[in-house]
Amino acid sequence: MNIAKQSTTLEQVATDVLIVGVQKHREQMSNWSALPTAFGEQINEWVNNGEISSEAKAITKLPIAGKSVKHILFVGLGEGKSLTAEVLRNAFGLVGKQLKASKKTAYTIWLESFVTENLTEEEAAFLAGEGIGLGFYKVNHYKTTSNEADTYLEDVHFVGASSAEEVAANYEVGHIYAEATNEARTLVNTPPNLLTATDLADYAEALGKQYGFEVEILNKAQMEELGMGAILSVNKGSVQEPRMITLKYKATENWEDVVSFVGKGVTYDTGGYSLKPRDSMIGMKGDMGGAAAVLGAMKIIGETRPNKNVMAVIGSTDNMVSGEALKPDDVITTLSGKTVEVFNTDAEGRLVLADAVTYAKQQGAHYLIDVATLTGGVIVALGTDKTGALTNNEAFFEKFMEATMDTNEFVWRFPLTENDKKRIRNSEFADLNNSPGRDGHMIFGGGFIGEFAEDTPWIHLDIAGTSDASAVHDLGPKGGTGVMVRTLASFIEQLAEEE
Ligand code: BES
Ligand code: ZN
Ligand code: ZN
Repeated sequence: MNIAKQSTTLEQVATDVLIVGVQKHREQMSNWSALPTAFGEQINEWVNNGEISSEAKAITKLPIAGKSVKHILFVGLGEGKSLTAEVLRNAFGLVGKQLKASKKTAYTIWLESFVTENLTEEEAAFLAGEGIGLGFYKVNHYKTTSNEADTYLEDVHFVGASSAEEVAANYEVGHIYAEATNEARTLVNTPPNLLTATDLADYAEALGKQYGFEVEILNKAQMEELGMGAILSVNKGSVQEPRMITLKYKATENWEDVVSFVGKGVTYDTGGYSLKPRDSMIGMKGDMGGAAAVLGAMKIIGETRPNKNVMAVIGSTDNMVSGEALKPDDVITTLSGKTVEVFNTDAEGRLVLADAVTYAKQQGAHYLIDVATLTGGVIVALGTDKTGALTNNEAFFEKFMEATMDTNEFVWRFPLTENDKKRIRNSEFADLNNSPGRDGHMIFGGGFIGEFAEDTPWIHLDIAGTSDASAVHDLGPKGGTGVMVRTLASFIEQLAEEE
């Protein structure tokens, strides 16, 4: 995509689509008189007729006959002083959808019209890049009936920007955030026969090569050798090999202060012998949403190259049934040496993550953030628009929350008490119990992973509710959301800036 580094003036603007923000009580922007007279007057007429809405997120598209600007897309912003980054991002999401629908890939943003007391030109440019990129996303399909070529965002220009170069740079970073999120969405949306653990590893390897990460992909024999008994137990029912995927982004000479993202990469979750009811199985192709989030964040890091060591570790397998499969009552030995009594084979994510977290520590993680579509419990508690969290380190979590404020990805922390830990450790035959009960089971799921994080500062993110949208939303279609891609990357950026 080409982002123009020079800003033109309104008098000179020639474009297919001009994108204009309309703030309430500022509809009669004096600046509109700067527009070529003919369509400046036209706009005033529209405003007076009430054809252009200034309500937040209202999009009005109007054609300009025979002028250098073919269409104007008016973006309602509500009261300028109460406009938040979240509303503006969502509004740009709707703009992206509109551009996609009308197959417009070249457009000009009148940046000045989006600036308010609280949102600078640079912020508005970033949110435009991010929002339009996210809104532009379309889910792939495999229908033979339509082979329409896809359209990509191609050309963006700005008018009314005071520092065009900085604006272009900010827009570009926003666009990178969107593109990486969209790739994570595509991973989530890909059918499970087309995305096995091996495929996921291939994707990660290609990503690693593209950005110069150190890549290590462990196959089944190597995992056996190392004693990864937990993820291997989940894999026992499968004909597909598991993979343990590690990507290292080395920013400093020494491998120190490493932040590790650990992703659940279950490419399909049938539940195993604790089989899911048929209707609950639908959608379980998305049980690698945590892995997708981690990979998306690594893509951003690869592009923006912050000064912070980051490692991604992804445990990947599907959860199937066969004569060999894991059974309830089995006792397994994890990579850490801790043993687990299996009560429920559908509580497989925590087994996969147990070994992934231990491996991340062995590979030098100083901070751990695991991301997983772990429990139905988090959906019952928080719905589908909030990610559930646990932590063993308040200060680390507080810092992380700052990043969520910037990206507007809602995270809510659950408690993890000594009593919860007692329940997780309640087994007659082993150190741990993989399913101590239905009551508060989000906490047992995450808390189980915490047993392997031990004293390493750790945050658990349960994205079972937020990883897959059941309906269209401002920033994208039904399907994978790419949740936490933006927050993980932005958190690293924040940590790097602190230093
Ligand atoms: N992958 C599921 C969790 C899930 C549920 C993700 C709905 C997305 C949407 C996970 O492996 C699972 O099956 N969890 C069980 C745990 C239970 C057996 C303790 C659950 O939530 O019911
Ligand atoms: Zn499960
Ligand atoms: Zn699962």
